[in-house]
Amino acid sequence: MKQRIEDLDWKNLGFVYRDLPYRYEAKYKDGQWQEGKLVEASTLTLSEGAEILHYGQEIFEGLKAYRRKDGKINLFRPEQNAHRFTLSAERLAMPPFPEEQFVAAVKQVVLANQEFVPPYDSGATLYLRPFMVGTSNVLGVQAANEYTFRIFAVPVGAYIKGLNPAAYIVSDYDRAAYAGTGQAKTAGNYASSLLPSVEAHQKGYADCLYLDPREHKYIDEFGGANFFGITPEGQFVTPKSPSILISITKKSLLELAKKQGLNPVERQITLAEAFGMKEAGAMGTAAVISPVGSITYQGQKHVIYSEKETGPITTKLYQELVDIQYGNEEGPEGWVQEV
Ligand code: PLP
Ligand code: COI
Repeated sequence: MKQRIEDLDWKNLGFVYRDLPYRYEAKYKDGQWQEGKLVEASTLTLSEGAEILHYGQEIFEGLKAYRRKDGKINLFRPEQNAHRFTLSAERLAMPPFPEEQFVAAVKQVVLANQEFVPPYDSGATLYLRPFMVGTSNVLGVQAANEYTFRIFAVPVGAYIKGLNPAAYIVSDYDRAAYAGTGQAKTAGNYASSLLPSVEAHQKGYADCLYLDPREHKYIDEFGGANFFGITPEGQFVTPKSPSILISITKKSLLELAKKQGLNPVERQITLAEAFGMKEAGAMGTAAVISPVGSITYQGQKHVIYSEKETGPITTKLYQELVDIQYGNEEGPEGWVQEV
């Protein structure tokens, strides 16, 4: 059923699927992308032999549209999502979607559903979910030769609410292999994180923290966000690993941290070192910046900064990032695009 705008409570949206009026769809056939357009139907019709149903050719993106104080709408670095989508497509042997068309289509979807962009100050945003699936029939393990690309939109609250420290547990499972698909935003990485996250929730944790899959010694990332820490010396550090997603929020915070004199660096971070961080957080589009209150490993809980309060460096980074996204502060050239 289509979402009625009058049924929305902007301050309590949660992070759930809703069926908005319009989405963008383009199909790939005969070796090329066909012209895309806005469509109303939220359903996809697939053959039982469709590649996606068997061998998992799926990639996706996540980005947000922000309602500014003056009522206009901002996107945050959408060309970065378009480019990562190309990299994901290449890793999954899928045809890249033209990057300029990706950004133009995102804007079309925002404009078509603009009454669903939550008001400024509600703490909510319009989340855009571009994705692509292999649709042609296969039986042997092979890439599809037909694909569907779509972008739908959903108004969402924060994935992890506000700046409240959360408790994480180090997972015994791996999310992605060392030279696997960890850098691609593809369904399989999330499928493999479901059982670990169910088990973490059952034990009362917000989510899992994954270690590098080769040595199980270094921090990799969370199920849906990258990790950062502030060392005792006040340096912003974030893992460098071939099995994690290259986060656009991470890239942005590395730049903001530099301006704030935090001497940021991407490098391996051992678990032992992480326990001694002055502050730590999860960063991503859905997560924004969410402080890590504690990390539990082999039954032992390590509190980082505080389980109740957010540290000053994390708070400052959060405020600066969000102010740029909403257009309250001017960010680096080209970060924000008006729709
Ligand atoms: N890591 C994973 C596994 C994610 O799913 C996400 C979310 O997109 C991120 C990191 C953060 O990436 P970004 O900041 O580009 O949203
Ligand atoms: C995002 O931040 O956009 C993601 O895709 C993360 C997902 C776990 C919701």
